[in-house]
Amino acid sequence: MNVQEMQVAVSPKFITKKDFLHIADLSSAETQELLDLALDLKKEYFNGGNDPLLKGKALAMVFQKPSLRTRVSFEMAMQHLGGHALYLSPAEIGLGKRESIADVARVLSGYVQGIMARVFEHEHIIELAKWSSVPVINGLTDYNHPCQALADALTIQEKFGKVRGLNVTFIGDGNNVAVSLMHVCAKLGWNFTIANPLGYEMDANAIESAKQIANETGAEICFHNNPHDAVKGANVIYTDTWTSMGQEEETAKREETFAEYQVNQQLVSEAENDAIVMHCLPAHRNHELTDEVADGLQSAIFPQAHNRLHAQKAILARLFGVA
Ligand code: CP
Ligand code: NVA
Repeated sequence: MNVQEMQVAVSPKFITKKDFLHIADLSSAETQELLDLALDLKKEYFNGGNDPLLKGKALAMVFQKPSLRTRVSFEMAMQHLGGHALYLSPAEIGLGKRESIADVARVLSGYVQGIMARVFEHEHIIELAKWSSVPVINGLTDYNHPCQALADALTIQEKFGKVRGLNVTFIGDGNNVAVSLMHVCAKLGWNFTIANPLGYEMDANAIESAKQIANETGAEICFHNNPHDAVKGANVIYTDTWTSMGQEEETAKREETFAEYQVNQQLVSEAENDAIVMHCLPAHRNHELTDEVADGLQSAIFPQAHNRLHAQKAILARLFGVA
């Protein structure tokens, strides 16, 4: 390619590639295919290791917020598949501050074969994907967390099998984790119920799109304010922090508002007997989730965290076009 051809190639008009930004972008069949691939790669890993599907490939990992699971599981996923991952901390890139998102996207696209990014504003991941000529993976925005939802669906299918009509109940703030969980439930034909305090509802567009998906799969989407009503018949009880990254100054107010939304043994006992309890982590123990539940027999929080590794291998292999 000469210089002019290269300049054309980095214009959004000429960029054709797949990204992983929203669960809602996948069809139900694609969602299940990714889950099947994740399970195959998980089995292969535990049976002596993965094939080096991503040999010679590099993933840039751009973080505007802290991370344990997303950072380590993506880095290890790349390593297990024979590729390489680079961690780029908030201080290093200064996404949109030191340099425009469009410029960062176009520069990185010449160095690596994929970009995973964790940002605050959802528009920023869309902008990154628009200008990047390599696949972009959403590692959490203020709006959603699709990688988490895929790992969660894997965990739920490992426990209950590939059945439709499961009841998945989310207790807490209707933000990023809840949005992607709602969408994956709708895609897979699982009923999704949320109980949140007034003023902490889910994004209206996210609900609208979940309802459209649910119409096709037969899932139901239900809303409550009372957590006790929401857990009746639940096969899965899911919670998340009351104060998300970037909302720290609201902590005291949120602790008060969400106090009735704690997932404790009493609440769990009101769900189905074999219900599992999930949390994306990090957990604020004895706030949204008691120690007794987090460390109890119905807790799935650590298998769920470990499944991030396997689900993300499937996302990487699919986006890099090797599986
Ligand atoms: N669940 C999750 O995304 O964890 P991290 O914030 O540690 O990546
Ligand atoms: N809702 C949480 C999820 C962390 C994985 C947050 O945004 O901080």
